[in-house]
Amino acid sequence: MRTLKVRLGPNSYPIFICDQYWGKLPELLKLYAAPRRLIIITDDRVAKLYLQPMTEALTGNDFAVESIVVNAGEEAKSLIVYEKIITQMLQFGAARDWGIVSLGGGVIGDLAGFVAATFMRGLPFYQVPTTLLAQVDASIGGKVAINHPMSKNLIGAFYQPRLVFIDIHFLRTLPETEIISGMAEIVKHGIIADRGLFLLCEMEMRRLLAIETEPIQQAVFQSCQIKARIVEEDEKEAGVRAILNYGHTIGHALEAASEYNKLRHGEAVFWGMLAEAWISRAMGELSEAEFHRLERFFTQIPLRATLDGINMDEVFALMAFDKKKKAGKIRLALPVTVGEARLFEDISEDTLRQALSYIRSRPWLA
Ligand SMILES: NC(=O)c1ccc[n+]([C@@H]2O[C@H](COP(=O)([O-])OP(=O)(O)OC[C@H]3O[C@@H](n4cnc5c(N)ncnc54)[C@H](O)[C@@H]3O)[C@@H](O)[C@H]2O)c1
Ligand SMILES: [Zn+2]
Repeated sequence: MRTLKVRLGPNSYPIFICDQYWGKLPELLKLYAAPRRLIIITDDRVAKLYLQPMTEALTGNDFAVESIVVNAGEEAKSLIVYEKIITQMLQFGAARDWGIVSLGGGVIGDLAGFVAATFMRGLPFYQVPTTLLAQVDASIGGKVAINHPMSKNLIGAFYQPRLVFIDIHFLRTLPETEIISGMAEIVKHGIIADRGLFLLCEMEMRRLLAIETEPIQQAVFQSCQIKARIVEEDEKEAGVRAILNYGHTIGHALEAASEYNKLRHGEAVFWGMLAEAWISRAMGELSEAEFHRLERFFTQIPLRATLDGINMDEVFALMAFDKKKKAGKIRLALPVTVGEARLFEDISEDTLRQALSYIRSRPWLA
């Protein structure tokens, strides 16, 4: 079991990383003074696989457990589902001395976290992320939210968990597209802040995708460390936390232009990272050699989705409307070398258009 700490003064919390050790969770919850009454919030797919053993482990250790199961998918992050959960909690008789455990991917973490942040002005919250994306990204940092029909993650809060428990064994039931999705965030963390982590991805991608204990635990650990360090520096996203957007500004626009069904988030982020690395090279920030190294690496990731059918004019238009656009300028987090990124606010529209036509013409090799 590896441990990390997110240091945020009174809101500090530990992250535990292990493989096939989740029987330890009740003990850790006790160690961190979790309430005796817990509500597990999960989705129907995760529930089928893990709700019963998880509940038994907790009840066997003197916890009183209720559970709330929502339908899997982004639609769960809605006001309607939120209200239903609150109603169920009231029917259980939940009060301020209860705690919330989220068991699932980023959707469940964001939803359960928002419930925890707002129910009676806040209940202690414990993250048990079961997707790779949730383990290395969404469960750390305290951003919790639900969607408004007009805007994703619009209704939310900064609300830190009391503990994050990561068991990589959960990943062994995850479909490969979901693994790729989380891998994009690991690779991103390497490129923006940890050259060693990128090297690990470069050398061990096949074993990482196969969830082999040693390399995946190492990669998850280093990835969490980067996310934790950036969150510590900038909890409320006033500055440096924005470097986590590397690959995401163009990635989000690609995702939107593909109408959220053809490209998965991680796939879009891989394309976005390639395009944004291209921009960094065009601006003379990233060296020719490092750009080619990244290009070679990206195009060997086994993505299913191509950019066919995506209208790049639409992608461009979406970016022009992007909220990250400031004072008429497009703002991007760009790698200046492998292992370091900075924010740039002076990206020309021409460079952006060229980067989009570059990825459009670039065949993904794998
Ligand atoms: N809060 C943050 O900082 C942050 C950061 C990044 C993303 N997010 C949010 O995360 C969400 C995406 O998260 P996600 O990619 O984890 O998606 P998800 O939660 O929808 O999970 C993906 C799918 O995998 C299934 N699943 C989960 N664990 C499984 C397991 N162990 N075995 C088999 N199937 C399993 C789920 O049922 C779901 O169908 C988005 O809503 C996004 O906004 C939040
Ligand atoms: Zn992402």
